Amino acid sequence: MNLSKLYELLESEINKDFKKSKVIDYKSPNEMIEHLDLEINDDAQGEEGLYKSIEKYLSGSVDTAHPLFSNQLWAGRNYPALISEFVTTLRNTSVYTYETAPAATIIETFMIDMLCKQMGYESGDGTFLTGSSNANLISLLVARNTLFPDIKSKGLSSLPELCFFVSEHSHYSFEKAANVLGFGEENVIKVKADKDHKMIPAELESSIKNALAIGKQPFYVCGTAGTTEVGAFDPLTELQSIARKYNLWFHTDGAWGGALIFSKKHKHLLKGIENSDSISWDAHKLMGIPLICSVILLKDNNQLLPAVCEQTSDYLFHEHEYDDLDLGKKSIQCGRRVDSLKLWLSFKYYGMKGYEQRIEKMISLANYLTNKVKSNPSFELLAPTTYCNVNFRFKPDGNFTQEVINNINLKARDEMYKEGIALFNYCYIEEKLSIRFILANPDVSTSDLDDILEVFLLKCKNQL
Ligand SMILES: Cc1ncc(COP(=O)(O)O)c(C=O)c1O
Repeated sequence: MNLSKLYELLESEINKDFKKSKVIDYKSPNEMIEHLDLEINDDAQGEEGLYKSIEKYLSGSVDTAHPLFSNQLWAGRNYPALISEFVTTLRNTSVYTYETAPAATIIETFMIDMLCKQMGYESGDGTFLTGSSNANLISLLVARNTLFPDIKSKGLSSLPELCFFVSEHSHYSFEKAANVLGFGEENVIKVKADKDHKMIPAELESSIKNALAIGKQPFYVCGTAGTTEVGAFDPLTELQSIARKYNLWFHTDGAWGGALIFSKKHKHLLKGIENSDSISWDAHKLMGIPLICSVILLKDNNQLLPAVCEQTSDYLFHEHEYDDLDLGKKSIQCGRRVDSLKLWLSFKYYGMKGYEQRIEKMISLANYLTNKVKSNPSFELLAPTTYCNVNFRFKPDGNFTQEVINNINLKARDEMYKEGIALFNYCYIEEKLSIRFILANPDVSTSDLDDILEVFLLKCKNQL
């Protein structure tokens, strides 16, 4: 196979002038079907066809490395991690046994240990898995099976109705997990938060008491470290002391905000995380590792294996000298990608200091954008900025209904997307449509932020 075309492609991506390129060359679904030339023929198309299709895929995709892409909790490009993705695929290893994945097993074990120690777990445990939605699910599974070990063999019917508590601003993965694990979505009890989106400890306690009063069995509380919408950090220590009072498991969903552990300046926002029974964290968010790169960490190193698996198949897990290293036993997956390599290589490439600087840069850019918004009377900041989420909207002078203001903001945002200028997301904060701008790409400059605000403002004003 001739790789020169691949080098050309990589070089043109690395040297791309983002000032001259769009975030997306928007096409409707029908146009996209046509653009991609989907048909698969009897005759092979070979290398020429391969690169043609690759080009079509790239030109049909959002460029998430573009500085004006800020739609998700991740953005930008991380070259050491991108290269290690290629290396991962080159060996195409599955991390279930030491025998089949010797280097990957040692690297994953090292990374889990290193992450546990960073979070404050002296001898923790954990595994890489397919995202924090699944990490949250596994935390519920381990909590449930540790607190009620009979469930594993007898099922849920052996106990009263189990319920658990999350913030009203928690991630929607908890409902999915409740569905998958058989608790039922009604047993995800949403606890009220304050105006800054932080869970209110007194509300947690009264929700627990109410659940007990109607005969439910509370077993788990989750505090969120970095909410998806506004980036709020729940008061972990206060919530934990209530959870402990009722003998409940305490999980921290640090999918988004857990990265602050690497910043001396900002890690105080995670105070108490070290006392959680479990933690979810996504390295594919602020750390810029390509999706998927995610872990569940447990404070006690004797809980994951018995809760998840133990009964294994002898076609795969043989008894051998090092069988205690066979990581597949701790996962609900069988085949499992090597996601630890890209994180390890990225840490080695940038160093801990490099990551610390990256995180602090993103927070100072979020503060820069916040100050720009605050200093312009045409904008309204809709939530305080504590992390990398900036929530605001255009607010015209005069008497406009909420619906009209929401539509103006939405239309300006959608126009910018379809014209390929920028892609940023929105959510609703008390019925106000909020532009949720995420600072996750270290290649963003203050002038990019000035430009994006200027265009957005113009597009909003043009509708008046
Ligand atoms: C707070 C929080 N928890 C969990 C998740 C789910 O993470 P993933 O997309 O890796 O499943 C997200 C995703 O945005 C999140 O913001």
